[in-house]
Amino acid sequence: MELKIPKHVAIIMDGNGRWAKEKGKIRLEGHRAGAANIEKILEESIKLGVKYLTVYAFSTENWKRPEKEVKGLMELFSAFLSSKKKTMKKQGIKLLVTGSKEGVSNSLLKKIEETEKYLENEETIVFNIAFNYGGRKEITDAINKILSDEKRETGKTVTEEEVARYMYRPDIPDPELVIRTSGEFRISNFLLWEIAYSEFYVTDVYWPDFDEEEYNKAILSFNRRDRRYGGLNAE
Ligand code: FPP
Repeated sequence: MELKIPKHVAIIMDGNGRWAKEKGKIRLEGHRAGAANIEKILEESIKLGVKYLTVYAFSTENWKRPEKEVKGLMELFSAFLSSKKKTMKKQGIKLLVTGSKEGVSNSLLKKIEETEKYLENEETIVFNIAFNYGGRKEITDAINKILSDEKRETGKTVTEEEVARYMYRPDIPDPELVIRTSGEFRISNFLLWEIAYSEFYVTDVYWPDFDEEEYNKAILSFNRRDRRYGGLNAE
């Protein structure tokens, strides 16, 4: 039987810190190895024919981490954008950065905007980085956008389709597969609206060690799932 490839895969890249600790390295080394691993998984996504890859790079709660780690993550993200943009263009990667602008430095916001613009016409895959992202914030922002939309009839009942249109990325289909590395069975405020019917795959492997082989195991597991969307299977 032919393998079903999810159109949209979303990944919670957990375990960088534990990976580093086990190797006697500082946490930031783990994040560095994690950033390097993104490239590998992006390439494999293209090979597999995945059309949208979303990764959770920084949550709205990650600001609570020690200042040094937050600064390190910001720098790593900025360096990633600068050093990978040309390769991404060659590979046909359209980049989107999704999340809140609150608290992010102007220089980083500018770099994000420039990199998105540089890659806006690429078509092989959409690489969506959830950065300063929180699922509850996204839903709250959507509600506020609905309330303040002057073109909208006041008091009109809100439908699910309408809420979906006010999310950060209404043009991206919901993820069919959500992968979480490093063993925890938690969603951690990731894509709360969009994952209503996603399949969830958890592996004990730490993110920096999540290679092509592990990725393919997740795809195989997805292929064994019986997706009913709340209905019943046809007899
Ligand atoms: C979770 O590991 C990982 C993060 C909070 C950040 C993810 C960031 C990267 C992979 C690198 C930077 C991103 C880009 C796009 C260049 P953890 O620190 O919670 O690990 P632990 O649970 O083992 O401590």
